[in-house]
Amino acid sequence: MKLSRRSLLSLSVPLYSSLALKAQEAKSNSESTPRKWGTAPAAEFTPQRVILGWTGDPAHTQAVTWRTDKRAETPQVQLAPASANPDFVSDAITVPAKSGSLDIGNGKTVGTYRANLQGLKPETHYLYRVGDGKNWGEWFEFHTASDLPKKFRFLYVGDAQNDIKSRWSRVIRAAYAKAPKSAFIVHAGDLVASGYRDDLWGEWYDSMEFIAATVPSLPVVGNHELEKAAGAPKSLALPAIWKQEFAYPQNGPDVPENESYYFDYQGVRFLSLNVNILENEKDFDANRPMIEQMVAWVDKALQTNPNRWTIVTQHQGMYSMAEKRNYVKMREVLLPTYEKHGVDLVLQGHDHLYARSQKIAGGKVVAADANGIVYVISVSGPKMYEVTPTFEPLMAKVIPHTQMFQTVDVDHDKLVLRAFSSEGEQLDGFQLEKMNGRSIYSELAKPATPDTAPGE
Ligand SMILES: [Fe+2]
Repeated sequence: MKLSRRSLLSLSVPLYSSLALKAQEAKSNSESTPRKWGTAPAAEFTPQRVILGWTGDPAHTQAVTWRTDKRAETPQVQLAPASANPDFVSDAITVPAKSGSLDIGNGKTVGTYRANLQGLKPETHYLYRVGDGKNWGEWFEFHTASDLPKKFRFLYVGDAQNDIKSRWSRVIRAAYAKAPKSAFIVHAGDLVASGYRDDLWGEWYDSMEFIAATVPSLPVVGNHELEKAAGAPKSLALPAIWKQEFAYPQNGPDVPENESYYFDYQGVRFLSLNVNILENEKDFDANRPMIEQMVAWVDKALQTNPNRWTIVTQHQGMYSMAEKRNYVKMREVLLPTYEKHGVDLVLQGHDHLYARSQKIAGGKVVAADANGIVYVISVSGPKMYEVTPTFEPLMAKVIPHTQMFQTVDVDHDKLVLRAFSSEGEQLDGFQLEKMNGRSIYSELAKPATPDTAPGE
């Protein structure tokens, strides 16, 4: 949808009126004035780690964060309706960003920035760039969501965690190449091996590259997000880098350092749950008040869900398939709530393998048209674990030693998950179809050729 400059300026975004891009700057492409081309930003003010997220409604808002080596005085975002005409710049408006600083270790502090673009039009293609009014990054793009339930696709990846730049980057590139129009990416925890190490996050951003600035990321907290440098005791608190660089709704439970949230997108409620507190069962009784608070929040978030579909994302697997893992307490406290509210799908990581369940209720496989939940565990990074058979009878597909990514398509009454190897080969898939308030589960036939997924 083409927006006029006037309609854009009428949006409820707070503007730097004095900083709004002057039309004559962009009009310098005209015949009568000499061309003025942009100059490269100064190294210390060059935007890095630009990443999209959401703190509000994805049809009308878009959050962006970034950082620079030296803290800028007037951080800002320029925003324009997308156009093939390079003079789209003349339609840009300027939105101020909030700034902060982050200690990244070794005596180094960087400037961090966050802007929440508001008043956007649904289903609209925008261009944006971040900077400080003088030093700018490149123009990136994003698409706003529909404000109604509508067909969309998203990507889901398990733990990246190790050798991120070396051996994970190819997987996220393969995922983007397979599904470039994905609405967002769910990262199911353990994005890096030590959440406190800035250099590992550097590898993650180097691998995500423009994808981070183009496709919003919805991260889930994993156990490795709490890890400090080797040898240091594990933290109970999330690193500041997580909170400053990711943007997600601040609607989680009132539990310290939990950072869970829920988020609605075109007919689906996504609930991103930090279940680290349930991993170490010997602390269960000591943590009981916080766990009860978290479960009460899950109950409310699911009860108030107006959407047709419910997808939970959590790091540790409800039916773990890796050795020495069996989260009895987690099932005890969360499963009744998930099942009571008709959660459809649970996307997980942590086990460093791929395992996808049949439809399960009460710990047993149920009929295709019965009430139940499908659980998926996946891994995108190179670290692999061996399969343990504890819950194998519940599983429809188990794939070890394979770097994977998944696409999920939601189209009103139909949800389809496809699991691909990093080579782009479809290795698994299933479908849920809602009819008369129930979902009918069925396996997808393996495609005749590896590249037959729709929407490519
Ligand atoms: Fe993990």
